[in-house]
Amino acid sequence: MISVSWLWSLDLRLMRRGLFSATESFRFSQVGQLTSFWNWFVPLVRGVFLRVLVTGGMGFIGSNFIHHLLSSQGGVEVVNLDNLSYGSNPNNLKDFVGDGRYTFVKGSIADFALVSKLVGDADVVVNFAAETHVDRSIVDPTPFLQTNTFGAFNLLEACRKYRVRLLHVSTDEVYGDIVAGSFTEKDRLNPSNPYSATKAAADLLVVAYHRTYGVDALVTRCTNNFGPYQFPEKLLPKVIVRARLGLKAPVYGSGKNIRDWIYVQDHCEALWTVLQKGRAGEVYNISAGNEYDNLTLVKKVLELMGKDESFIEFVEDRPGHDLRYSLDSTKIRSELGWRPRFNFDEALKFTVEWYLKNEWWWKPLVSEELLHPTPWKLDRTIRVKR
Ligand SMILES: NC(=O)c1ccc[n+]([C@@H]2O[C@H](COP(=O)([O-])OP(=O)(O)OC[C@H]3O[C@@H](n4cnc5c(N)ncnc54)[C@H](O)[C@@H]3O)[C@@H](O)[C@H]2O)c1
Repeated sequence: MISVSWLWSLDLRLMRRGLFSATESFRFSQVGQLTSFWNWFVPLVRGVFLRVLVTGGMGFIGSNFIHHLLSSQGGVEVVNLDNLSYGSNPNNLKDFVGDGRYTFVKGSIADFALVSKLVGDADVVVNFAAETHVDRSIVDPTPFLQTNTFGAFNLLEACRKYRVRLLHVSTDEVYGDIVAGSFTEKDRLNPSNPYSATKAAADLLVVAYHRTYGVDALVTRCTNNFGPYQFPEKLLPKVIVRARLGLKAPVYGSGKNIRDWIYVQDHCEALWTVLQKGRAGEVYNISAGNEYDNLTLVKKVLELMGKDESFIEFVEDRPGHDLRYSLDSTKIRSELGWRPRFNFDEALKFTVEWYLKNEWWWKPLVSEELLHPTPWKLDRTIRVKR
């Protein structure tokens, strides 16, 4: 099954190795260049048309992306670089242990030597690696800068060196909140917390690296994801897990904060589309138009679990809590032809059922601290059980 556009990947490799450029054409007389030729040629002979370096692939969206890629595309090989920090879970990808198309490397995108080696062996890079929990960024922003900004910088430097395409996965949170209407890619960035500020810094670097050095890099900004394999400290799995354990669902403040939700599979399909067809140096918003305030969302989840509103507990609001996020995704739809495929209510039902059926996945992770109703008030970083 070769459904991947292998001509596209071949084209990427030829351009990258400079085989078509007059100055560099077929100068394989030196040992280094021979090695690089075999690095390029041998995978093709093995039927591998695209070698994808995924960073942060043990987390929620990255692992869904790897599932999507390896189950829908032929001729693809994935290397997953992840430092196994708290948001990761090797169980997310246990289906691919022993699969010759998948390799896991434990390490950090903050380690330039490692990043450089892996990027040198890849055709494209998709960067999911990040510190992602806003509440944690309020307690201690340092690791957010190290991974979200400095790590992204390392990837850009390596992609510049090896002329590899980089898709940097970012978030709607970089725009800050909006009372009415929706942000387009042209709107200015206005992050409200350390998490979104470090993501915004990386987004700016990506666009600047394209303009300054011609690096083949691009950015996607997506709204809130939901689906299987999301770490149980995030709103949706937290509500499901707490309700399953007979605990109330914490709703910050009045519960009127609005988020635009997208099923994770739709996000993964959008990323694959951008990776293949997106224009270098561009930013693409990704959204599905499912805007709900947190209270409504929590009520929907509780209803699917047969629980009533007595399971809701209003708690103190998170500092700097953005009121509403909303993205205009006309550009990716009209330019690249992507559309979300999943109905929100059906995908939410599937997601709730997935967590209820897969207690083996989340039970080893949860602790009183992790499920804390106001985690940013804990005076320490939350430990994760393994
Ligand atoms: N979850 C959402 O709703 C959402 C929405 C839009 C964008 N995003 C973006 O998508 C990306 C993935 O988000 P997620 O929800 O899957 O996060 P996650 O926390 O579930 O996963 C992040 C992964 O990155 C890894 N990681 C952290 N630091 C690393 C480092 N220095 N080196 C290598 N790996 C490292 C972690 O171990 C983890 O496996 C993030 O960049 C996030 O900003 C998320």
